[in-house]
Formats: sequence, C-alpha cells, structure tokens
Amino acid sequence: MGVIERYRERLPVGPETPELTLGEGSTPLVEAPRLGERLGVELYLKCEGLNPTGSFKDRGMAVAVAKAVEEGAEGVVCASTGNTAASAAAYAARAGLPAVVLHPAGAIAPPKQAQARAAGARVLGVRGSFDEALRRCRELADGGSYALVNSLNPYRLEGQKTAAFELVDDAGRVPDVVVLPYGGGGNLCAYAKGFAELGAQPQLVAVEAAKRDKTFASAIRISEPVHREDVVQLVSEGQAEVVAVRDDEIADAWLELAGLEGVFCEPASAAGVAALRQLALDRGRFVVCVLTGHGLKDTAAVEQLTEAPAQVDARLDAILQEVQ
Ligand code: F0G
Repeated sequence: MGVIERYRERLPVGPETPELTLGEGSTPLVEAPRLGERLGVELYLKCEGLNPTGSFKDRGMAVAVAKAVEEGAEGVVCASTGNTAASAAAYAARAGLPAVVLHPAGAIAPPKQAQARAAGARVLGVRGSFDEALRRCRELADGGSYALVNSLNPYRLEGQKTAAFELVDDAGRVPDVVVLPYGGGGNLCAYAKGFAELGAQPQLVAVEAAKRDKTFASAIRISEPVHREDVVQLVSEGQAEVVAVRDDEIADAWLELAGLEGVFCEPASAAGVAALRQLALDRGRFVVCVLTGHGLKDTAAVEQLTEAPAQVDARLDAILQEVQ
C-alpha cells in the first residue's frame, strides 16, 4: 500500500486524485544495537533507501505527481542533486507524464542519473550549481504548464511527513531525538509537520555539511537551502537544532553504519549518525536516525573510502594468502 492509500485521511487528496504509487513508504525501522552501544543511546535507523527509487523522495513525489495529474499539468520539472530527479522521473513515467530534470553538470552520482535516464526523463546538466539549476527550474515552471516538483511544492512535504507517522506507529512511542540530513531543509520541515499533526515533539536535529558547497556527500551539496527561513523558525521555536559535520566525520559514520550494522546508505544519509557524537545525549535516549538514501546510489563513495579488491590467481593457496 502506498502513502496516498495508507494516509488518505491525513493528506490533501480527494476522489479526483489518482492513487499513484510505486509502493513507497512503510520502510523498516531497524535497530542498530552495536552502533547504539558505541554512542550510548538506543539507536534505530529509518531505512528510507528502501523506497522504490532508493530514497525518501518517493513519499513526496507520489503525492506531488498525483496532484500534478489532478490539476492537469502537462509534465513535471525539477532541479536535483540526483534523488529528486530519479524519483520525479519514475513517478512521471508511471503517471504517463513527461519529466524534465536539471542537475548541476558533473556533480551528481551517476547511478541517480542512470535512474532518471532509464525512466525516459529529459535530463539536462546545467553548467552551474544546484542553486542556479533550481532558479532556472522555477522560472521554467512559472512560465509554463509543467508542475514544479521540488520541495517548494507543498505536496512533496505532505507526502514526506508520513515518515513521522510511521516512525511513531512502528516504535509504539515518540522518539526522544530524530536526526536527519539537512540539504534544502524540506525534509526537516516535513518531519516537523508530521510530528506536530500527531501532537508529538521529539527533539529534531538537522545535520548539514560544514562545507556545504564542497562536501563529498553530493546529495546535500547545496549552498542556499531553499527552506532556510522555515528552519530558522523551527530553531527559534525550540523545535529543531542545526548541527554541522565535516566530511571525514560523515565518512566515518558511513563506514560504521555499513561495517557495524550492515546498513549501506549513501554518504549524505550518514550525516545524522556523524552528528550524534557531537550531541552529548544522555545515556539510553531513544534516537532515530533517518537514512535518506540507499548506498547503491553513490558507488563512487565506495571507491573513495574502501580498499579496492585485490586480484588473485584461481588457486586456494593464493586466496588463503590474501585472507589470512
Ligand atoms: N539525503 C538525501 C539522500 C538527499 O538526496 C537529500 C536531498 C537530502 C538528504 C536532504 O533533504 O533537501 O529535504 O533537506 N536531495 C535533493 C535532491 C536536493 O535533489 O535529490 P532536504
């Protein structure tokens, strides 16, 4: 069951809204006991990489593209560091709409671009930053009949808030702390909305790259977060805090997640775990880290951060020599 069907009562959808789904949502909440022990907290991972296109974007895209169809859009358009594009392309294909995606040329992980291309989207590499691509995209959407499906589209956040509902449902209680990466800030706003609708108030921690414009976590390589004002507001209301982490801290957390827990996410997704060290949380607190994208989204990170496999002769003694 997709998010529209599962959460129909809590979403701005009606009888005219198509029940567009690729089976998004209902992602597992996985305990991380070894990493949790290391950090002194009760740690759970919300594995959003298990959504149909491998990231949390699918929750919001199902709703945004369904509403675009309902409202008679002729296509969808987005700017993206990769995941939004992959998701928009897939849901547009499913809905029978064309998709145009703009991304910063040469700055997105190739598997994400492969997804958008496979789904038949018109993919354009813009010579410029993500922020510039987003500005052009807004102009494009303003002047035409294509719906903008970046997180500025309020339906995206409506869909994404469903992750907060699932979290509380699956855990059977409200987490003390929810930690998630902060790129443009849409997902933080979506979680805040979801928890507010439940009357729940966990401590929300949004984690950004210390060097936003240069981080190796390309998903969150964004200099001008489009939801910054909303994030500042959440911080001033005491609902959220923003923490910055260095790339080497993200890389360590990424390796720990895969090596200690067997959970392979993309680098940006590990930012939350990287921040836990800085937070000095009381022992035993119930912490959920949202792992926003699958590890296979960015295999270049594996090349960069792990040892390349050695080649051996096809003889047992040669193999034993390597593994001992
Ligand atoms: N994690 C991943 C894997 C992402 O792809 C993104 C954003 C974020 C975290 C940050 O979420 O922007 O709501 O704060 N990716 C966008 C994209 C920018 O184009 O795919 P945010």
